[in-house]
Amino acid sequence: MENKQQNTTYNFTAGPAMLPVEVMQQAQKEFLNWQSEGASVMEISHRSKGFISLMQLARHNIRQLLDIPNNYHVLFMQGGARAQFAAIAHNFLGDNGKALYLTSGYWSEMAAKEAAQFGDVKTRSILDEHSSNKKIIMPDLSQEAQDLRYVHYCPNETLDGLALFENIESPYPLCADMTSCILSRHTPINRYGLIYASSQKNIGAAGFCLVIVREDLLSLPRLPMASVLDYRLAVEYESMYSTPCTYSLYLASLIFEWLLDKGGLDAVQDINHKKADKLYQFIDASPLFHNTIATENRSHTNVTFTTGDAKQDERFYINAAHSGLIGLQGHKMQGGLRASLYNAMPEAGVDALIQFMQEFTETYQSVSN
Ligand SMILES: Cc1ncc(COP(=O)(O)O)c(C=O)c1O
Repeated sequence: MENKQQNTTYNFTAGPAMLPVEVMQQAQKEFLNWQSEGASVMEISHRSKGFISLMQLARHNIRQLLDIPNNYHVLFMQGGARAQFAAIAHNFLGDNGKALYLTSGYWSEMAAKEAAQFGDVKTRSILDEHSSNKKIIMPDLSQEAQDLRYVHYCPNETLDGLALFENIESPYPLCADMTSCILSRHTPINRYGLIYASSQKNIGAAGFCLVIVREDLLSLPRLPMASVLDYRLAVEYESMYSTPCTYSLYLASLIFEWLLDKGGLDAVQDINHKKADKLYQFIDASPLFHNTIATENRSHTNVTFTTGDAKQDERFYINAAHSGLIGLQGHKMQGGLRASLYNAMPEAGVDALIQFMQEFTETYQSVSN
């Protein structure tokens, strides 16, 4: 396998996910002595000049990668995306505010459930209940009778392998959980009030959640809340109100540079499209595997598929792991199989997977369980 040295597998896990080999090699090289500090980046103070420069550069680079307008703050918060499920409600739903949560799968439902504990939250499924495949119907929010503080949705459902690529037209600020699609394609930031994404997929290692929030939303009435959820405090303290996850931020800063060196999201988006297309084409032509998502809603980052037989699926991911293709088991809530194709997955990894699927089909297609 190309350029893998001791890291000898292609890792299709949904997250924590595969990291670029070059980034890990750089981290390994400077692990004991970062920027001639004579200490690891893990050991130095988050208030040191060196670390503050790292945070500034990371912020600058993510702004450049996502083309973030000046009236948006970039925050690095803790507690993963799940903390944001609560933080959004706390920061925006004071004074009897209302919110609408559009649901399309596991994570959008989890977000709604968490927020409903703290405020007046309505939910609406955007799945087409008449379709045999999983399909999204674009919501029409123009006739909304109630006054909403925000509308929340998840443009890429990691478990389901379901994505919404079109932009939702909303008269209310849109909040989006982009945990599994951030940095995979261009995102028109100015269409959103707030975007958040946990770090353990395209951003790097687990540990923090990127939050991009429009300045004016910080003046909305709020609920009483724990300080670590407070966006105003995070802005004021430049994401250092409590000690930040220094090592995860360091890895993210390397990933942002790696992405810029590759040509930014223009380049990455094309490669991601190509990788996903190849795999879906193979699945569609396969006599053994199939996918249950409508073509226009197929995720480019999380490709779900199945043989339709739980035992055969299990045999597939176990055998695949023996061949160096790991993490292909679907989420336990969903079953089936899933190949996550984040930015770090090279096209060669997808080719290796397709070749393995072909060989598996030839050997096991007629085996009944
Ligand atoms: C879309 C989405 N939202 C939220 C989460 C939860 O993230 P965390 O475990 O960092 O809280 C995940 C985790 O995979 C996810 O994929």
